[in-house]
Amino acid sequence: MRRIAVLTSGGDAPGMNAAIRAVVRYSIYKGLQIFGIERGYKGLIEGDLKEMLIPSVGDIIHRGGTMLRSARCLEFMEEEGKKRALNILDVFKIDGLVVIGGDGTFRGAKTLCDAGFPVIGVPGTIDNDLAYTDYTIGFDTALNTVLDAVSKLRDTTSSHERVSIIEVMGRNCGDIALYTGLGGGAEEILVPETKHDIDNICKKILLSANRGKTQSIIMVAEGVGSANDICAQIHEKTGLDVRATILGHIQRGGSPTAKDRILASQFAAHAVQCLLDGKSSRVVGIRENKIIDMDITEALDMKSKFNESMYELTKILSI
Ligand code: F6P
Repeated sequence: MRRIAVLTSGGDAPGMNAAIRAVVRYSIYKGLQIFGIERGYKGLIEGDLKEMLIPSVGDIIHRGGTMLRSARCLEFMEEEGKKRALNILDVFKIDGLVVIGGDGTFRGAKTLCDAGFPVIGVPGTIDNDLAYTDYTIGFDTALNTVLDAVSKLRDTTSSHERVSIIEVMGRNCGDIALYTGLGGGAEEILVPETKHDIDNICKKILLSANRGKTQSIIMVAEGVGSANDICAQIHEKTGLDVRATILGHIQRGGSPTAKDRILASQFAAHAVQCLLDGKSSRVVGIRENKIIDMDITEALDMKSKFNESMYELTKILSI
């Protein structure tokens, strides 16, 4: 292993820059030559690679987004795209690749691994939807961004004695809604992992309003449906003053939290070390506070890690 490359792919996540920095610096420290690939798999099939040096990653650890930029590349998933990627890796004499991203990025990595090319995956997505790892890079920052918004919404929701429906990202995973629901003191949390009954929700809101509660916060994971629809249903059934807020891409930006910067640095160094140790087809993660790596296929096959006990606790605390 003499020359490796790194890319970021899929939705960006705060902490990706800290991961790129650690891949580059750890590689150079270990005597490797390191290349950055622009715009994920798209840049790979287009041959958009550049050598990274120690200063290339200076002053980025605290920045959101990804200095290598990111893209979702359908072409790469075709046989022709994969062939072109392998050719480019051959042309640049790259011996191993670190990919930073989520589920789609890892599925792309798997196709290269299946073709015999060494790849290690680093989980970078705000969604926290990879079952094999307790946390993904960017999740903690997104939680803090959402909580900041929830606190602000609480102020105005309370002043006007309203119900606020707050829609958050997460694709098919309810973790952002669940964790911020608990941290933000939400009355209800709607996640794709469990069913909800709109009549029960309406009854609970009305009963608490009758008790003198001046506001209700309802977190909705985007995988459940639209906050606007839920807002209309609750208004229709209760007559209460309800507002929907869709937080959108603001959740993907911002300076990474301490947790995300540290996790990103540890994951990235571990990934490079995996390549140096001759490992391939592995993804890096954290379980019970320990940095781990596991087989990419096994990791992708794992089912949802939805935290039932946390969900139950949110119900108890919102009585
Ligand atoms: O995977 C990260 C994520 O932000 C999801 O939560 C969301 O569903 C999706 O990406 C949005 O994708 P795009 O930025 O392409 O609109």
